[in-house]
Amino acid sequence: MRFLYISILLFIYNAAFAQQQAAIIPMPANFVAGAGFFQLNNNVTIGFNNDRLKAVAYYFQNELLSQKGITLQQKSSNATIMLMLKPVKKNVDSNAYQLSIKPDKITVSAYHPRGIFYGMISVLQLALTGKNNQIPVAEISDAPAYAWRGLMLDESRHFFGREKVKSILNWMAFYKLNTFHWHLTDEPAWRLEIKNYPNLALIGGIGDYLNADLPAQFYTQAEIKEIIAYAAERYIKVIPEIDMPGHATAANKAYPEYSGGGAAGHPEFTFNPGLEKTYSYLTDILKETNVLFPAQLIHLGGDEVSYGNEKWNNNPDILKLCEREKLKDNAAVEHYFMKRMADSLYQLNAKAIFWDEMADADLPKDKTIIYWWRQEKPEQLRTALGKGYQVVLCPRLPLYFDFVQDSTHQYGRKWNKLYNPIAQVYAFDAASFANSTTEKQLILGIQANIWTETVDNNVRLDYLLFPRIAALAEAGWTHQGKKDFKAFTTNLGQHLVLYNKAGLYYYDPSKALLHPEIPMKRKKPLNYKD
Ligand code: ACM
Repeated sequence: MRFLYISILLFIYNAAFAQQQAAIIPMPANFVAGAGFFQLNNNVTIGFNNDRLKAVAYYFQNELLSQKGITLQQKSSNATIMLMLKPVKKNVDSNAYQLSIKPDKITVSAYHPRGIFYGMISVLQLALTGKNNQIPVAEISDAPAYAWRGLMLDESRHFFGREKVKSILNWMAFYKLNTFHWHLTDEPAWRLEIKNYPNLALIGGIGDYLNADLPAQFYTQAEIKEIIAYAAERYIKVIPEIDMPGHATAANKAYPEYSGGGAAGHPEFTFNPGLEKTYSYLTDILKETNVLFPAQLIHLGGDEVSYGNEKWNNNPDILKLCEREKLKDNAAVEHYFMKRMADSLYQLNAKAIFWDEMADADLPKDKTIIYWWRQEKPEQLRTALGKGYQVVLCPRLPLYFDFVQDSTHQYGRKWNKLYNPIAQVYAFDAASFANSTTEKQLILGIQANIWTETVDNNVRLDYLLFPRIAALAEAGWTHQGKKDFKAFTTNLGQHLVLYNKAGLYYYDPSKALLHPEIPMKRKKPLNYKD
């Protein structure tokens, strides 16, 4: 009897221990823990049944080498870790994978190399969070709740540069996030080299949110290609944003002849929709952009145009346009402009993405994606879904990561007194915004956005991103019914150890006082863009 009692206790302990070891974030759809461990060491070999998986094996080998000093070799048959591509079937999710961990063998199988990659990310997380390079025995089958799991970084207001962007991409891959939305143009600066219009970067790249005189900082086309290749190795697509017709200040500094003017707080804020040459100028820019960014998805902005389009009321070219096209007000001009620019993009076989203001414009629904960002305007989401647009949810509350995460934090944004603690990021349930099965299918997924008026240094960027990025990942990947904030918090504890190892400064909700807020390095900005 006593033996049985001890055995049961040991079993419970082992099961609990195995669970605790299995700190995979985001939590897989199905996870069955077993007994024992696979021991990772230099005798372990890695093989694959299809050459398309060579790069995934290579990625994993190098992660283990750099993070653990383990030198896994590739082997053509009977390797201890096997990557198995299954024959393609119709209607399978390319993200899905199965992972079998036995004491003497690990097998990852999927229909697509992407699924194999995600399976190996799960193995990597287990290897990095487990003790003594032991990977707990388990059977996992996994697929994400949402196809779109994104993160946006604003590099117009502050420029972080190639190495920081790569580091963010690396962590995105670690959390199975798959879309990097790069906000490269706005009021303070333009950060993308365009060969036909070199002054966009050379002049538009000068300055940032707090200092208009900083020497130009921007990405050359060679650097863009390098970063896109880096992202592609990690199954991340990169979507550039060329914001128009508002937020065009930096572009207008470089080429004032296309400016439609601005307003007191936002000088030279818009492009001029009344000039024919504006459309060919912007189309030329989009042509280069669409070659550089192979996702064939370009974000055209469309937000907050009313902040600075009052000069449109008296501009003779715009008045002529209104008469010719029977446009009754500035909103109609904006929609006319956007339809033409979206058409230009469609001609390039690319889809257009817009902020939710453009749900009101009459754009073709099969080529348009709307980002719902204004949580106080649920009607914009209803309009977008009602019109049949695909939608990505990134409401400021709780998905703007430049909002603070604790009531005592002072440097980031708040919405009245509201802010974005990790628990609310975690709890975000995209499906709850759908009123029908059709609407559910139109919701592609979720995205967190980091605007950088209040972020002028890498350490502060890390502090806002970590660990909320982990909560974002689980909100995007794990089915709502499987989400468990307590289990997530336990698993997160082991990921915080990884953040320490990586030299990241992060916010720890359980030890807030030991992880005080990182302030701005320079003067705190007074006016935030909302
Ligand atoms: C936005 O935050 N202006 C989209």
